[in-house]
Amino acid sequence: MSLFRTKNLDQMILDSKNNTSGLKRTLGPLDLTLLGIGAIVGTGIFVLTGTGALLAGPGLPLAFILAAVASGLAALCYAEFSSTVPVSGSIYTYSYATMGELIAWMIGWDLLLEYGLASATVSVGWSGYFQSLLSGFGLHLPALLSAAPGAVPGVETWFNLPAFMIMIVVTALLSIGVRESARANNIMVFIKISVVVLFIVVGTNHVKPANWEPFLPFGYQGVFNAAAIVFFAFIGFDALTAAAEEVKRPSRDLPIGIIASLTICTILYVIVSAIMTGIVPYEKFLGVDHPISLALQYAGENWVAGFIDLGAIIGMTTVILVMTYAQTRIVFAMSRDGLLPQRLSKVHPRFATPFFNTWLVGILVALISALVPLGVLAELVNIGTLMAFTLISAAVLVFRRTRPDIHRPFRCPGVPFVPLAAILFCVFLMLHLQLLTWIAFGCWLLIGLVVYFGYARSRSLLHPK
Ligand code: ALA
Repeated sequence: MSLFRTKNLDQMILDSKNNTSGLKRTLGPLDLTLLGIGAIVGTGIFVLTGTGALLAGPGLPLAFILAAVASGLAALCYAEFSSTVPVSGSIYTYSYATMGELIAWMIGWDLLLEYGLASATVSVGWSGYFQSLLSGFGLHLPALLSAAPGAVPGVETWFNLPAFMIMIVVTALLSIGVRESARANNIMVFIKISVVVLFIVVGTNHVKPANWEPFLPFGYQGVFNAAAIVFFAFIGFDALTAAAEEVKRPSRDLPIGIIASLTICTILYVIVSAIMTGIVPYEKFLGVDHPISLALQYAGENWVAGFIDLGAIIGMTTVILVMTYAQTRIVFAMSRDGLLPQRLSKVHPRFATPFFNTWLVGILVALISALVPLGVLAELVNIGTLMAFTLISAAVLVFRRTRPDIHRPFRCPGVPFVPLAAILFCVFLMLHLQLLTWIAFGCWLLIGLVVYFGYARSRSLLHPK
């Protein structure tokens, strides 16, 4: 039964009220909403819309709506947990208190994959836009340093230098303190939203409704396949919960931040994807890694397209920032519980951040982004996240039964239907990912089991001494 030992929930809630972790409480609801948008709007809308358009045709907005419904339902479940147990470590911590150590470990392990690969994926996307911007000024990196080995067919490449560098810059920002990073994030989010709105305003004039015919060239199957990919565009709001211990009034502010950021992003995505497929016939997105600015170039708006490129670069920077932040806080929580080495939860005396942990995670992810091509990365991130969403929704159901007494500042509406629908939608999307993704994900979970039984279990703080 020790596999299912749980942390003491009441003690965790008390600790969070007393702020025993040593982290500073500096974030308010506006910071959180901006942090959420910072995490959400990125590679999904700027890069993966091209792939989505090829799969779904002009029906792409439907794919975004489907993915938004899955995320939104899971978000309501997330919000209940994050308001009830406002501690660092996101769904990992909640499951430790409700479903036991083994499941919590596997979820934590799953989240390491989600956030680590998401930061890496977005860094690679960032590098593509950055190099495209440089080439506008006639500057080119040596091919060897422009991409990961094997990333560009027929070209010898060794190391993605821009992806590596942006990860290191983000790591440096995070290691010196969340407040400074949140401020930098707020400015970058403002710029990012401005270019998306600019796209909408300028793009609307160039829409030719004929491009929307036929609306579903690949039927609903195409929409489902696209939804499983563009789901990536919604990942990130869950990263907010990882910040719980640095939020001023977590029980009120976390649900506001999650729901507000998700709603704003959904509205933007649906409009952007409709306009994009209205300007350009969807087949033209084949092999394009900057579909949003391409649409404006196609319409002859080259200047605006240049601004979009710049905004996309800035937008993706904020995504990397929040994803890496979430990654370090998951590691922090797992280390504090004894499941990972203790050094990873040491807080820096001056900066009040987990300094060593941040640099270790940052350098590892920087190397992944420099050496691994995009390829299946986005799919792996999606499967990991959908799995986490499924489990958090199940956890709400379990937790309502096992601890009906506990005070829940935010209650997920429509229990059990909302959590059950969340599970259904997430599993449905997972089933539309490739077999290879499932196999790779299975391998990652297996490695996780080996590490648990070989290392973490006996070092857990809950292990009898
Ligand atoms: N949702 C984030 C993005 O689109 C991960 O880049």
